[in-house]
Parts: sequence; structure tokens; C-alpha cells
Amino acid sequence: MQLIDGKKTSTDIKQEIAAEVAEMTAKGIRRPHLAAILVGHDGGSETYVANKVKSCAECGFESTLLRFEDDITEEQLLAEVRKLNENPEIDGFIVQLPLPKHIDEQRVIETVDPDKDVDGFHPVNVGRLSIGLPGFKSATPAGIIELLRRYNIDTRGKHVVVIGRSNIVGKPVASLLMQKGNPGDATVTVCHSRTTNLPEITRQADIIIAALGKPGFVTADMVKDGATVIDVGTTRVPDATRKSGFRLCGDVDFENVAPKCEFITPVPGGVGPMTICSLMLNTLQAAKQRRGC
Ligand code: GUN
Repeated sequence: MQLIDGKKTSTDIKQEIAAEVAEMTAKGIRRPHLAAILVGHDGGSETYVANKVKSCAECGFESTLLRFEDDITEEQLLAEVRKLNENPEIDGFIVQLPLPKHIDEQRVIETVDPDKDVDGFHPVNVGRLSIGLPGFKSATPAGIIELLRRYNIDTRGKHVVVIGRSNIVGKPVASLLMQKGNPGDATVTVCHSRTTNLPEITRQADIIIAALGKPGFVTADMVKDGATVIDVGTTRVPDATRKSGFRLCGDVDFENVAPKCEFITPVPGGVGPMTICSLMLNTLQAAKQRRGC
């Protein structure tokens, strides 16, 4: 069993990005600038956004955090999004999700200029990804693909079973893995809450991607010997022994599944750190496109 170290991989990638930014600035090219909109005070969102701002500094990017209280109206938020669309200083931006219930998330996503949509959530970028055109790829799927690439995990002709059909993980990662190339060229099955014979299907998988958000859902009896398991789950489970009062729990029963695997990602330290890395890569790509380099 080999552990896939997302933390180390993400540190390596951030160093590569920082080196590229240093080259850009040495040539007098302005450094990439990411903005983030954070609405309200959700604990998870606060942490994610703080980590994104920290990663910008590590990559040599500029960052701007715009905070609003959760009583902001949809129209006010859309106006802020349009301002960022038009701001020439900003290369790309994200609106941290989830948003308060009175705001239509899809409307916000569709208001972001696709050329600044470094989250890759706009339907234009989702469409580009699904037909293999260049564009911003949703961060978590892109991070998973990068881990497979860097660990030389061949996906060609392999049976990949994705558990979960979300717009930001399940569907795009399935699209990417069925495209031509490596990573890619896989036979992909997408399972979800209405799948009837799930363990029977997952037992056929060479690679399992668990992205359903149910702690410990994938048990040892669902995994064949020698499989690779990618755990996307990051559920906060109360834990009085931790200072934070919680621990992050993956979708895989790691202790019992790991001994059967060829490769497995831990939680935390697997897919999670890669997600931010993809956002940094998308922001670098946005900056290069805007500067014509
Ligand atoms: N909430 C959970 N994951 C994400 C993400 O990747 N981007 C944004 N904007 N919000 C999220």
C-alpha cells in the first residue's frame, strides 16, 4: 500500500508556481491577483478562504478578500460580482459556497465572467471541460487528476467507479477520466444515492473515487484487492479531544480499506490540499491569458 501524499504534492506545485511567478515579475509582468468573496461566518468557509489567501502568498500572488454579512441581498452580491468582472486588476475570483439560503447560487455563478471563473463553476467552463476544450477546470477534479498523473497511476482502460454525482466533483471527474489521454481513457461508472447494487459495482473498480460526503461509507468489503482509492470526503465530525472540537472525516473507512489498496489518499492530507493548488493553477492561467503570455 502506498499513501498518496497530497500535502507534499501541493507544496511541490506551489513552489513550481512561485518560481514561474518570480520569472514573470523579473520580466516586469504583473503578478497574478485572485479575489475571494466570503459571505457570512460559516466555519468551514472561513477556513477554506483563509487557506486560499495563505496559498496566494505562498505562490507570490496578490489576493483580495471581500467580506459581507449574511444579510447581503442577492442584487447587492451580484453587483459586487459585476464589479470584479470589470476590475482590470483582478485576474480571477471566487465566490465561496455555500451562500445564504435567500441567494440563488446558480445565478451568482452564472454572473461571474467565464474568463475570470477560476473555480470553473460557470456553465461555459463546465461545458468546455466536458468536451475537452481548454478552460478553467473545477478545482477538486483537476486536483485528483494531477495526483493520478504525479503518482503515475495509469487510468487507461481501467474501470473507475465514482461515488457521488455532484456538479463540482462527481460529474466533472467522470468527464475528465473518460476523455482521451492519461489520466483518462478510463471506463467510468458513476454511482449515486439511487444506485441499487453499489457494493457489487465498487468491487469491480480498479479505481474508486468516493465523493458523497458520508464518513466511512466505503468499507473494506466494497473494495477489491489492489484497487486505488481516492477519498474526497471532508465531513467535520465532533471530537472533544481536539482543540477545534472536530476532526475531518473521509468517505472511506481508511483503517480497514488501506491494507487492500495499491494506492490510497488519506483525509486530511490527500485530495484537500490539491483543491487549493488547482485554484492557484487556474489563477496563474487566467493571469497569463490576460497578459498574453
Ligand atoms: N465550497 C466548497 N468547495 C468550494 C470551492 O471549491 N469553491 C468555492 N467557491 N466554494 C466552495
